[in-house]
Amino acid sequence: MNDTPLKLTSASTAYQRRRAALAAKVSRPVVFFSGHALARSYATNVHIFRAESSYLYFGGPPLEHAALLIEPGSDGRDGCTWFRTPPGPDDPLWLGPSPSDTVCADASGIDAKQIKDFDALESACTNRDVAAFTPHHPDTLSQARRWKLSEPNDDETLAVVDLRLIKDDDELIAMRFAAQAGVAAHRAAMRAAQIGHTESDVQAALEAELVRRQCRLSFSPICTVRGEVLHGECAGRPLQKGSLLLVDAGAEEPGGYTSDITRTYPASGEWTPIQRHLYETVLRAQHAAIEACVPGKRYLDVHTIAARIICEGLVSAELLTGEPADLARRGAYGLFFPHGVGHLLGLGVHDLEEFGDLGGYAKGRTRSERFGDCFLRLDRDLEPGMAVTIEPGIYLVPSIWERNDLVRPFEDVVNRTRVDALLADKFGGIRIEEDVVVRAKPSDGPEILTADLPNNPDEVSAIIQGA
Ligand code: GLY
Ligand code: MN
Ligand code: MN
Repeated sequence: MNDTPLKLTSASTAYQRRRAALAAKVSRPVVFFSGHALARSYATNVHIFRAESSYLYFGGPPLEHAALLIEPGSDGRDGCTWFRTPPGPDDPLWLGPSPSDTVCADASGIDAKQIKDFDALESACTNRDVAAFTPHHPDTLSQARRWKLSEPNDDETLAVVDLRLIKDDDELIAMRFAAQAGVAAHRAAMRAAQIGHTESDVQAALEAELVRRQCRLSFSPICTVRGEVLHGECAGRPLQKGSLLLVDAGAEEPGGYTSDITRTYPASGEWTPIQRHLYETVLRAQHAAIEACVPGKRYLDVHTIAARIICEGLVSAELLTGEPADLARRGAYGLFFPHGVGHLLGLGVHDLEEFGDLGGYAKGRTRSERFGDCFLRLDRDLEPGMAVTIEPGIYLVPSIWERNDLVRPFEDVVNRTRVDALLADKFGGIRIEEDVVVRAKPSDGPEILTADLPNNPDEVSAIIQGA
């Protein structure tokens, strides 16, 4: 092994501090598995490896088949052991050199004497009550079961969640980097959004910019003229006059921190009146929701602020009739804005969602069952250092308008003729998504990580038109 560098995001002291903080909250040892690359087809043709998020957060070097053990009461160095799988004899030939133990120890703040062979983890856990955080990989899960490791209980999961919820300075530097890479990628996408080009041309421009910055996509990108398909994918469709292109994509920097950005615009940059009206409605909703991201604000209320403004815009567009506040109370926006206003962001694009609603929902809060609110991924009171997305939208989704259970309760307030006309025109959908970090002083408002990417409709048009 030689001294191949390791890509870790934070300083070794930050990792030690995080491990010590966890060790103070747990009463039994906890182990974090890194996971491994999953096979695409045959065993050595694999998907890109990405270490499990909590393992990364606590300073596990991003190598496959490794694990980090933290003893209760550890100071973040003593009582922490890293187990690694040594490279096989042919690995240097195919994969190149691996980082040495010394490089790993220095980067993660683990005592070099506390680096052990992965196989030693089994005996380190034998006859002990150990909680294991594992990626959702069948092999790692069955290994943890074979070694009789316990699943984390809710208190242990929440100890991890509480730490990861609040981003420290090192994490924010990584998130700003991921945001800047995402911004550059979206600018490249806008420049490629020309009539005569395709969705694929736009996505290619976007991905090239990420590769250039040594980032990956933070999730399968959404780059489509069928923006009403919420997680639809690029299908290579041509960009035609009049159609809206929705691009939702972000960067993941080498340490695993992400951005998640959406812009919607007409190819060639020319908005129709109804496109512009609904776009400006979404933008107003977004501004108000972002402004509300201050300490102590309940995220559900941020969602409701956006929903009410969307109702106002739907009334002025003559898609709904009535008093916007009443329509919002009844949940009429769900027909046009079916997803929630956003989610946590950090290590992984839906940060902490690997823990289900233990990540996104405060103790005692549960998801609404009402359509339009049931997909809201976050309902916590905001605190300084929390990173969230704000991503309101308006869509004309055919499958919603085919569902009587969803539409009938609002028959009295929906202008069905106008809705059907937009559906017939294949209006698609509009979403605008920014990444924000809550700041301590409410009067400062949140830090908008993605502020360098214009979302004003005229500025967006100017970029598309090369002005
Ligand atoms: N890209 C999925 C989302 O914005 O949450
Ligand atoms: Mn997104
Ligand atoms: Mn998002």
